[in-house]
Amino acid sequence: MPVNVLQNAASIPVYRGPARFARDPLGQLEAISARAEGAIVRLNLGFFRPFLVTRPDDVQHILSGNAGRYVREGMLWQPVRRLTGNGISGDGPQWKASREVLRPMFAARHVAALTQTLADTVNEAVDGLDEHATTGRPFDLVKAMTRVADLALGRAFFGGGIPSADGERLGQAVATAFTSLTARMLLPFAPSWAPLPGDRAFRRAVRTVDEVVYPLVAQRRLQSDGDDVVAMLCQVRDGAGQPLDDRRIRDDVVGMYVAGTETTAVALTWLWVALDADPAVAERLRAEVERVVGGERPAAKHLPELRYTRMVIQEVLRLYPSGWFLPRTVLESDVVGGVRLPAGSTVLLSPYLTHRMPSLWERPHVFDPERFAPERAGARHRFAYLPFAGGPHQCLGSQLFMAEAQLVVAAMLSRYRPRLRDDGPVRPRAAVTLRPSRRLAMTITRGER
Ligand code: HEM
Repeated sequence: MPVNVLQNAASIPVYRGPARFARDPLGQLEAISARAEGAIVRLNLGFFRPFLVTRPDDVQHILSGNAGRYVREGMLWQPVRRLTGNGISGDGPQWKASREVLRPMFAARHVAALTQTLADTVNEAVDGLDEHATTGRPFDLVKAMTRVADLALGRAFFGGGIPSADGERLGQAVATAFTSLTARMLLPFAPSWAPLPGDRAFRRAVRTVDEVVYPLVAQRRLQSDGDDVVAMLCQVRDGAGQPLDDRRIRDDVVGMYVAGTETTAVALTWLWVALDADPAVAERLRAEVERVVGGERPAAKHLPELRYTRMVIQEVLRLYPSGWFLPRTVLESDVVGGVRLPAGSTVLLSPYLTHRMPSLWERPHVFDPERFAPERAGARHRFAYLPFAGGPHQCLGSQLFMAEAQLVVAAMLSRYRPRLRDDGPVRPRAAVTLRPSRRLAMTITRGER
C-alpha cells in the first residue's frame, strides 16, 4: 500500500486509497493501525478524510474526558437516524433525556430481575434447535443466533404480549435495514439524495418497523402494569409531567432494538466460531457448564458460577467486537495526542483495532480467555478494552448481553455438542457490525452425559 505522508500543521501521516478501502476496509485499517502503532493518522478517502484514533489515552479523551466536543452527528450517523430517530441513538438534549429515562431500566438490579425471563426465553429458543440434533441437518448459525437475540430482546422490550409473527417481522425488518445501510456506511461522502444500493429496501424496512411498533405501543398504553421496557416507558412522565408521546417511545425502543439485536447475534456467532477453532477452551467450558448446570435447565441462579464462561465471552468480544467502529464528529476544535483536530472533522475510534494492538495485548491475534482472569483485569488501561465503548454513551445493554450470552452457552452445551461444517476459513467482514465473511453451517448432536 503506497503511503503518502503530507506535512500538515500536525505532521501526521495521511493514507490514501478509497478503492482499496471500499474493497477491504478491515484489512486496510489493520495495516494502517499496525504501521501507526497508536499514533493518530488521517485517512484520505476522497471527500471523506477521517482521523483514526486507537491509543487508549486518546480514546478515553474523546469518549469520556472531553466527550462534549465529540458528537454522534454527521454523514455516518444520518442514515441510522432515519430508522431510529433522535432519541437514545442521537446526541444532545434529546439523547440525554432518553438516556436518563432508560438507564435505570438497564441497571444491574433491574437486569437481575429480568434474568429468569431471559433464561426461559433462551431455553425456548435453544429448544427450537432440537430437531437438528435429531435429524443431523445443519442450520445457518447467524440466523439461529439472530433468532435467539430477537426473541430475548422482543420479550424484554414488549413483554410476553408480542405475537411471534410480529417479533419475526420486526427482527427481519431491522436486519434488512442494517444490511442495506452497508453501502452508505462505506461511502459516507455520498449525499443523501444520491441513490445507493439498499436505499429502497431500507425505506421498506423502516415502514415495516413502524407498522409493527406503533400498534404495540398503543396496545401497551391500555395496560397499566408490566416490567417490560415499553410498559415502563408508557408510565414515565417528562419534566412537564406529561406522558412520553408515541413517536418518542417508538424511537427509543427501535433505537435500543437496533443497538442490541444485531450486535448480540453477531457476538454469539463469533463465540461458536472461536470455540470451534479451540477445542481445549471448548472442553473447559463444557466442563464448567456440566459442573454448574448439570442436568437442569440453565437458570438465573447459575450465572454467578459460570465464571469461565464469562471470561470466554469477554475474549470473544475482544477479538470480535460487534461494534467495531465508533465515529464521532468534532464539534469544537481540540488537541488529542498532540494533534489538532479541526471542528467539523470526523474521528473514527475502533474497538477492533485497539483490541488488536501489540503494545497493549500480548499475541493479540491469539484467542486466550485467560486474559480476563479476574486477577489480570486490573493491569489494563480502562480504554484498552472497550467492546461496549465508554463515557456518556457507554452501552446500556452490556449486562443484559452478558447474562444472555452465558445462558446461551449453558443452554447449548448442556444439551448439545455443536460443530461448524468445515467450509474453509472465516474472517471478520466490516458491515455496520462485524459480520463473518461467509455463511456458517452448524450441526449439533446430543451430548452424552
Ligand atoms: C455484544 C453485544 C453488544 C455490543 C458489542 C454493544 C456495543 C455498544 C457500543 C460500542 C455502544 C456505544 C456506541 C457509541 O458510543 O457510539 C453501544 C451503545 C448502546 N447499546 Fe450496546 N452493545 C451490545 C448489546 C446491547 C444490547 C443487548 C442492548 C439492549 C438494550 C444495547 C443497547 C445500547 C444502547 C441503547 C446504546 C446507546 C447508548 C447511548 O448512546 O447512550 N446494546 N453498544
